[in-house]
Amino acid sequence: MRRAVCPGSFDPIHNGHLEVIARAASLFDEVIVAVSTNYAKKYRFSLEERLEIASETLTSLRGVSVRPMGEGLLVQFCREHGANLIVKGLRSSADFEYELPMAAMNRQLAGVETVFIPAEASYSHLSSTLLKEVSALGGDISPFVPKAVMKRLRTSAE
Ligand code: PNS
Repeated sequence: MRRAVCPGSFDPIHNGHLEVIARAASLFDEVIVAVSTNYAKKYRFSLEERLEIASETLTSLRGVSVRPMGEGLLVQFCREHGANLIVKGLRSSADFEYELPMAAMNRQLAGVETVFIPAEASYSHLSSTLLKEVSALGGDISPFVPKAVMKRLRTSAE
């Protein structure tokens, strides 16, 4: 049984994330989407909203579940959930530079391997940070995010 963890803030989840998660689901038996919380960080969407959005969006994908990760170490979450693999999407060499030391650390800390999935070119410019900026300044981000995100944005604008 190959169980992988796909971690992130998902603030909000976007189509690039969804594509990587779908590809991970085709490679592994189970994929746990771990939604992180860092209390030092200011999120646009609450943990509850990020969990709801991810659950609503990913419900049809076989073997995919969504869980809160809490504030601890990612490898601790992996251990608690019986997973020895982390999946990360890579959009660019900058992502690779950022991810490589974390992958090495997670392997040395707990023997947890990281598998990188290269982003589909049409999604390689997407980031939650950029999408939040575009949306806050009045741009339409509906082509880049699932409907569940747009629903929350509309509700909070009312
Ligand atoms: O979507 P993000 O914000 O890039 O996700 C980052 C995340 C949550 C994957 C990363 O910050 C993380 O792994 N946090 C858990 C804390 C941890 O294990 N730190 C040591 C990493 S070697």
